[in-house]
Amino acid sequence: MHANSVQTIGATAPAALRLGSLALASNLFLSPLAGYTNLPFRRVVREIGGVGLCTTDLVNARSLLEKRPKAFKLIESHFDDAPLAVQLFGSKPEEMRDAAVIAAAQGAASIDINMGCPVRKVCNVGGGSAMMTELNKTAALAQGMVNAVKIPVTAKMRLGWDSDNLTAPDLARALEAAGVAAIFVHGRTREQGFGGTVNLAGIRQVVKAVKTIPVIGNGDVVTPEAAKKMLAETGCAGVSIGRGAFYDPWIFQRTQAYLQTGQLPPEAAFAERIRVMQRHLDLMVETFGEEMGCRMFRKIAPWYAKRFGPCHEFNKRVVHVATREQFREVLENYQRWRQQFLDEAGELQPRFQPAPLVASFMRAADPSQPPPHLAVPKGPVELW
Ligand SMILES: Cc1cc2nc3c(=O)[nH]c(=O)nc-3n(C[C@H](O)[C@H](O)[C@H](O)COP(=O)(O)O)c2cc1C
Repeated sequence: MHANSVQTIGATAPAALRLGSLALASNLFLSPLAGYTNLPFRRVVREIGGVGLCTTDLVNARSLLEKRPKAFKLIESHFDDAPLAVQLFGSKPEEMRDAAVIAAAQGAASIDINMGCPVRKVCNVGGGSAMMTELNKTAALAQGMVNAVKIPVTAKMRLGWDSDNLTAPDLARALEAAGVAAIFVHGRTREQGFGGTVNLAGIRQVVKAVKTIPVIGNGDVVTPEAAKKMLAETGCAGVSIGRGAFYDPWIFQRTQAYLQTGQLPPEAAFAERIRVMQRHLDLMVETFGEEMGCRMFRKIAPWYAKRFGPCHEFNKRVVHVATREQFREVLENYQRWRQQFLDEAGELQPRFQPAPLVASFMRAADPSQPPPHLAVPKGPVELW
């Protein structure tokens, strides 16, 4: 991992946001998506621009202490990949503290604590003093990490277990007192999973609960307009984007431009999507080797394809590629096949264009409107 501590992206750019000692050139963040936000993808979004801080997939603290190669692969970085937060999870304070020290020594710019659902036990036994005990324990764990490293320590959480247990504001307050430098909050409860609507008022409650540290809002930001609305309605200092970056690795650059100028840049053209997808595969091969890189790319390429228009011919074949050459053939065949959907100018005919992406909280309050189609890859929701 590249060694660095306090950094600013772009020497002349004014710092848009600080996480403790860490100055960032943008208030837009890449959310951790286990299995996706690896080094190649982070380099892809950074090359396009607009992102202030990227985060690794969650890393088991104990695996890092046990020096497991898989854990070290998760925090592998590159000089292009800065600043980088390492996200840790674990419940043993000593393990989390020692893992934070290792990550810092490997060059992490900050450490993010995965809180999953913050106070699960409380929800089982029901509020009151049990909740305070749990909060104190969590705050003590964070404080141990804050004291052990010089880089900022942040925390990522959901709003709480369910709508009757919106514990994030209390937890955020306790963590601020423990020295945590920022709070990332996904505006849904554990019970919601990835369904329903992101609760902007809930994020606002977290913003109001802390005194000075930045709160970064998260959830369903798939367009620059959604980022703007989240910032405006919650008062959060920044926005963190997960799945939206997979649909649209240009979202950070587009959002930054939109926030600065009020002009909405168009979505990337097909040729640009192809260029970036190929670059992504090259970086996968560089990081994981040709066979493994191509195999892993089988689940990544279909995310790019979601914005190609008709794409089943591509998806059907890309899940078998094992070499870069095979990928090139699949792509060539697909581009030939896709021509039937183009007009004379070489653009997709309007009826084949993918529907616009809409965040849950941007839908009109009209129940007859279809829900947004935000894909949810399988995984352990209790940690996300
Ligand atoms: C496939 C997948 C993997 C995820 N992995 C993590 C993770 O490792 N750590 C974490 O804190 N959250 C994780 N999350 C949650 C996201 O970081 C984010 O909070 C959530 O997806 C909502 O944001 P989005 O709508 O912008 O994707 C994951 C989500 C998905 C869909």
